[in-house]
Amino acid sequence: MSAADEETPFLKSFKDPQAVANYLSGPPLFVPGFEALHRMTNVLLAERVPENGRVMVLGAGGGIELRAMAEFAGGWTFEGVDPAGEMLALARVTMGEHANRAELVEGYIGDASEGPFDAAVCLLTLHFLETEERLRTLKEIHRRLKPGAPFIAAHTCLPTDLNARTLWLDRYAAYARAAGAPSEMVAKAREAVGDMSSLYPDNVDAALISEAGFSSVEMFFAALTWRGWISHA
Ligand SMILES: C[S@@+](CC[C@H](N)C(=O)[O-])C[C@H]1O[C@@H](n2cnc3c(N)ncnc32)[C@H](O)[C@@H]1O
Repeated sequence: MSAADEETPFLKSFKDPQAVANYLSGPPLFVPGFEALHRMTNVLLAERVPENGRVMVLGAGGGIELRAMAEFAGGWTFEGVDPAGEMLALARVTMGEHANRAELVEGYIGDASEGPFDAAVCLLTLHFLETEERLRTLKEIHRRLKPGAPFIAAHTCLPTDLNARTLWLDRYAAYARAAGAPSEMVAKAREAVGDMSSLYPDNVDAALISEAGFSSVEMFFAALTWRGWISHA
């Protein structure tokens, strides 16, 4: 059993039918530029992914990015991996007419097929993993990619300094309120995110992505507490 197999409170919530039923409305309220993040992901992938390319999506639950990629490039196919079966069921619904272009695997990175894939994407997911598990996961993603294939990751980062951390958490919450999220929902999310021990400064993530074997690690997305990187296998 790997560290990831121990259910975190977050993973439990992704297996909770009621939380999953409300999932799709959440990210656009909490991630500034959520739709643009997907559009940028598509554009960056398209630099190297061929017309009939196969893309692995880790943490594919909900299916929002799967749908965005499927609509953007009609020839791409996907393998979506996620330990929460309920979130994968939602992904199938979200993908609608494109659902037959994705194979959905319930599990962790070790359960993904060997590929090799033309690209990998991991959005709003790696921040749940502590350093060791994050590095192991990144290495396993890298191992499944063709040489030169792009890898796109985006998730929450926070500074280590306590005062700075509090300020950025307040900004995270203020954005969600301004976007229209109910106060009670925002308060819960702020508390839960504030309790996470796996949120690191963005230079730590960039270093882990490099250490896993990826080259040309570049940040392409920075929006309040959120960061995104493109790199290549
Ligand atoms: C916040 S959701 C993001 C879903 C989707 N990528 C999006 O952007 O809407 C995080 C997802 O990561 C999944 N997850 C949690 N731990 C994981 C792990 N170790 N490996 C892969 N996915 C994981 C959860 O089940 C959940 O579906």
